Amino acid sequence: MPPVTPLPKAELHLHIEGTLEPELAFELAARNGVRLPYASQEELRQAYSFADLQSFLDLYYALMAVLRTEDDFAELADAYLARAKEQGVRHAEIFFDPQAHTSRGVSVGTVVGGLTRALDAAEEKYGITTRLIMCFLRDQSAESALATFEAARPYLDRIAAVGLDSAEVGHPPSKFAEVYALAREAGLKCVAHAGEEGPPAYVWEALDVLKVDRIDHGVRCMEDERLVARLVADQVPLTVCPLSNVRLRVIEDLADHPLPAMLDAGLLVTVNSDDPAYFGGYVHDNFTAVRDALDLDGETLRTLARNSFRAAFLDEATREKYLKEVDAHEGEDAGASAS
Ligand code: ADE
Ligand code: ZN
Repeated sequence: MPPVTPLPKAELHLHIEGTLEPELAFELAARNGVRLPYASQEELRQAYSFADLQSFLDLYYALMAVLRTEDDFAELADAYLARAKEQGVRHAEIFFDPQAHTSRGVSVGTVVGGLTRALDAAEEKYGITTRLIMCFLRDQSAESALATFEAARPYLDRIAAVGLDSAEVGHPPSKFAEVYALAREAGLKCVAHAGEEGPPAYVWEALDVLKVDRIDHGVRCMEDERLVARLVADQVPLTVCPLSNVRLRVIEDLADHPLPAMLDAGLLVTVNSDDPAYFGGYVHDNFTAVRDALDLDGETLRTLARNSFRAAFLDEATREKYLKEVDAHEGEDAGASAS
């Protein structure tokens, strides 16, 4: 029997702060003298029951209090990359939320310095190539996003793209037109969360106003036929996060997830983990969960893996190398059609 290895894949929707496992949170809290309002890791885990996106975000931002130094961010990213390797990740495009740290007195330089230290070591240590995506918090002002972009200017050579996250409803993409124009002028790629809890109109705005290269989530596009046609025609990638959708009650049950319908419609869908420490699984766990709940065959899983590399911000030679790895892969994800 050959060793069972997960399909090679790219992870394109991953908030590094959402990889903070309770073990590391308690370790950093002790090291930095931060008091957590939970007596134990078990008590913290028990709080991981969310009614919606906001109830998750409240805990997600609160727990970030333990992240203070460059070393903390480097350790956080290294722990994610070690897990990602086990999950078959060959390339990771990693979000971070600078405003969630600068608001606590931690500078953009500290965050980027720590993250890039781990990312720079990842190719040799784990065989994983990486990119960083700087997200603006959409429930903060457009002025705050602009100030964040200016504070990050010295580090733009380390940042591949800008993104937009946090509480979606009531904060349409058009609010951030100016900062996205600056980012494009600076040569960065652009992505935005849209159509997670928010309406299809937010996906239209992300495309037409922010001129994004990818949509993060986007599952609610399925409510608008014209929007689906547009996304298909332009082959705009969607970074879908199935376990997140269930945990945040965007979708009631994984068996009802629109992923198969999205693939059938011709959308360029990828599968990702979003905030894996909170949502019950890393990216390969998401692949196996949708395989089991939606009865996906091996060829569909390979399509999802191929899509992840097609949608990645990679040079063409590296993209081709990774696509060949998917074609050559034989393992558990290959499913029934591989035997
Ligand atoms: N920040 C971290 N995870 C998020 C999500 N799923 N949606 C919006 N903002 C986020
Ligand atoms: Zn997200």
